[in-house]
Amino acid sequence: MAVVRWSGVEQDARRHRRARRRLLLLLPLALLAAGCGNDEDSLAPKSHASSDIASLFWWMMGIAWVGLAVVVALMLVAWRRARRRAGDRPDDPKGGEQTAWRVVLGAGVAFPILLIAALFVVADIFVIGTTQAPAKGATDLTIRVTGHQWWWEVRYPGTPAVTANEIHIPVRTAVRVEVATADVIHSFWVPQLNRTIDTIPGRRNAVELYADAVGRYRGQCDEFCGLQHAHMAFYVVADRPAVFRRWLANQARPARRPATAEARRGRRLFVTGSCGDCHSIRGTAATSDVGPDLTHLATRTTLAALAIPNDRRHLADWIENAQRVKPGNQMPDMRLGSSRLQALLAYLEGLK
Ligand code: CUA
Repeated sequence: MAVVRWSGVEQDARRHRRARRRLLLLLPLALLAAGCGNDEDSLAPKSHASSDIASLFWWMMGIAWVGLAVVVALMLVAWRRARRRAGDRPDDPKGGEQTAWRVVLGAGVAFPILLIAALFVVADIFVIGTTQAPAKGATDLTIRVTGHQWWWEVRYPGTPAVTANEIHIPVRTAVRVEVATADVIHSFWVPQLNRTIDTIPGRRNAVELYADAVGRYRGQCDEFCGLQHAHMAFYVVADRPAVFRRWLANQARPARRPATAEARRGRRLFVTGSCGDCHSIRGTAATSDVGPDLTHLATRTTLAALAIPNDRRHLADWIENAQRVKPGNQMPDMRLGSSRLQALLAYLEGLK
């Protein structure tokens, strides 16, 4: 599993600018180089569905290159003939024209229509078929994911477990993921595991998640959904079934009781202050579902949909300056001041 190097929002922006320049200069190579070997590379598939998608991509790419080569070759032939003809006696104009029309209609119209129709059939009938969600009842595990501006709510029906931006699944198991949205259209995409699936207001769509190997796979919202669309990422963690079951059993439990006096003060602040107006911590009086459920916040590796790592320093920064860290998100800058902030951190860090 790759070690993730964290960068702040500013570093991210700089990296994106650099990447864009590189892409413009050397588009095809940069595309390959940027995608290679990371945990979000659709050409490094880790499931049967994404293997089929990658194969389709390479076939289409190969055919496109052959097509380009044929077009360039025909252009060269035409150019050489035109040059030769300029100095020579003219060809029989009627015969030349007929051949040219045959080539244009055959290679330029009929052949592409056949080719595109064939690719359509392969893509739509075979590849789309292998990426489909298992039917209800045909799988042991269904997960409900709801897109919010800009984070992902994750529920495990049949259990009280609710989490955010980190989806755990058992390895080598077909999981039915039902997606919906709380606001605008988002698109749920884990490139190494499957195709995208849009979250459409008023509708529930489904897709399969299946992972060949234990590991952590990065997902990303794939439909522009506002200012922080780029920071609407998530992880899918594929674990051995026993590890997954332990994780789920823990997530289903109500929150741990605070262990110290300071953490108890933090819980009081959370429940009676404005935190509880937006967040739930199961087992307390905080039951709102505007923002992410924080019952087991300390078990997550990131905050703000992978924008920052989940450690004490970043959590403090997030609570105090959420609008600087991720401008436009719904979390206000809390400005609690040091003493109340420390108590709140002590409480939240105990929510394993
Ligand atoms: Cu949600 Cu883009």
